[in-house]
Amino acid sequence: MIKCVQKLKNGLRGNIEIPADKSISHRAIMFSAIAHGEAIISNFSSGADCHSTLNLFKLLGTKIEFIDDKILKVKGGNLVPLAPDKIYSCGNSGTTMRLVSGILAGQDFESILTGDESLSKRPMKRIIEPLKLMGADISSMDGKAPLYIRGRQLQGIEYNSPISSAQVKSCMLLAGVNEKTKGQTIYSEPFISRNHTELMLKYLGAEIETSGNKTIITPSELAAKNIEVVGDISSAAFFIVAGLIVKGSDFIIKNVGINETRTGILDVVKRMNGNVEILNTREVAGELVADIRVQYTENLKSCEISGADIPRLIDELPVIAVLASQAEGETIVKDAGDLRNKETDRISCLVKELQKIGVDIFEQEDGFVVNGCIKKGLAGDAKLEVYHDHRLAMSFYVAGLICEKEIAVNGFEWTNISFPEFEQLIDTLS
Ligand code: S3P
Repeated sequence: MIKCVQKLKNGLRGNIEIPADKSISHRAIMFSAIAHGEAIISNFSSGADCHSTLNLFKLLGTKIEFIDDKILKVKGGNLVPLAPDKIYSCGNSGTTMRLVSGILAGQDFESILTGDESLSKRPMKRIIEPLKLMGADISSMDGKAPLYIRGRQLQGIEYNSPISSAQVKSCMLLAGVNEKTKGQTIYSEPFISRNHTELMLKYLGAEIETSGNKTIITPSELAAKNIEVVGDISSAAFFIVAGLIVKGSDFIIKNVGINETRTGILDVVKRMNGNVEILNTREVAGELVADIRVQYTENLKSCEISGADIPRLIDELPVIAVLASQAEGETIVKDAGDLRNKETDRISCLVKELQKIGVDIFEQEDGFVVNGCIKKGLAGDAKLEVYHDHRLAMSFYVAGLICEKEIAVNGFEWTNISFPEFEQLIDTLS
């Protein structure tokens, strides 16, 4: 689907509430499915990725009932393999495939995990190798899906991950928490990645200890508990950037999760001089939440983004490139080579498409550099491809709001993967 986007003449104004966090919604289903008892999950994501997880667990025998379109009742317990030919589809969702592998590796049945065209190209060795060290039996297509998992009893290990990835960490913690696994699993990573798994496992009664980048998990029985999912800061990021760069904007984004392992975007905006205020901070189901006021900022300045910043804003880097195009000076993003392993190669696709509308951006092996200029708007007048990538689609839409001439975003329907409400919320503020 092609979506045409025109320059916004007036700013974005009013209030919006950001829908549910994708990472937390996935985990709410998975963890409730393996916990004992019944739980209500409220404010569940309407994105297709989380529904891939939901449908997969129905095929693993978990009773899931919709109370309304965002409230679910989940009855957890032992998993039962119900899928025809043992095949479970993860759709476009890397989180589903990587986390569920950690659960299935320790069951007493076989399963095959498949994905769509984009997911089938993504690296799975990062979970296969450590799971094999725990004794898992997994075959793949040269480190890629489909994954053929012959479930068996696992053995806890100590693993120092070479990459900072919450998906790898969560996969290992889920294998480690399995009541049948022998011994503790100790996991560390170079820089801390999002910690929703650790927080939710603790909330459900797991024996888990964290200190800095290291987590120790003991096989535990989880007890189901109601979970309210907070708003997704990765979805809010498109609005934060739009508000900062569209002249005349001043609005409030309500109910945004501000877990410290996810707020790299807020730190970067602060470094860039962006006018963002955090209001009404509170706690919901172990996660911090706030409302965020965003105002147009005339004098944005460039910054460097690297090292420990990266896992705290990995999904926001495409829209940060759009923000950097409106900041005076050179914004350098480095240590972000894993962006090439996302829904598409997010470095080369981002750079190629933003260049079409006049952004002065060039590719580096592990990131990109943007030469921003606040006095020069973006030309637009181009058709941008999204390469099956929801975050590229929304980042390009936001860029279109400040282009002199209309742009076309080809593949806009991919926004349904994480944020079907995106355009409607832009309209609410326009
Ligand atoms: C996610 C972790 C991140 C992120 C992805 C969701 C998660 O991936 O990019 O969108 O829910 O754990 P990595 O941890 O592999 O970087």
